[in-house]
Amino acid sequence: MAASSQYRMLVSMVLFGSLLFLAACNTPQGDPENGKKWFAMHNCSSCHGPHGNDGKAPHIAGLDMGYGKFVRKLRSSDSPIMPTFPESTISQQDAADIYAYLKSIK
Ligand code: HEC
Repeated sequence: MAASSQYRMLVSMVLFGSLLFLAACNTPQGDPENGKKWFAMHNCSSCHGPHGNDGKAPHIAGLDMGYGKFVRKLRSSDSPIMPTFPESTISQQDAADIYAYLKSIK
């Protein structure tokens, strides 16, 4: 009996640990196909170009920045030109999709 409750304790500790781990690396899994659509729908393409490397704004195809920095850029662009995109406009999932899309192209 004692052994089985210790086992249950161990299992719940492992489960809890994995939850913490998942919460820590909260980069949602993005879908590049959807990201491509959001990129056009939110008009990123009007400044960054339809392929992310052929507009007047900086090239962002093959984006060389972490997901956290990317999302901060979207949420508060800190730029007089680039608009901000709050979560009500681009959800966390859509942002991850766009990120995956930009990573998938050059
Ligand atoms: C009205 C024009 C405009 C639109 C629309 C726009 N951007 Fe930008 N973006 C800019 C400009 C200009 C910069 C460079 C200024 C800066 O980084 O401070 C920039 C910078 C960025 C950067 C940082 C690039 C780097 O190397 O530092 C990212 C990432 C980015 N934009 C993504 C997006 C995404 C994704 C969208 C659509 C959801 C978007 N932008 C829509 C104009 C725009």
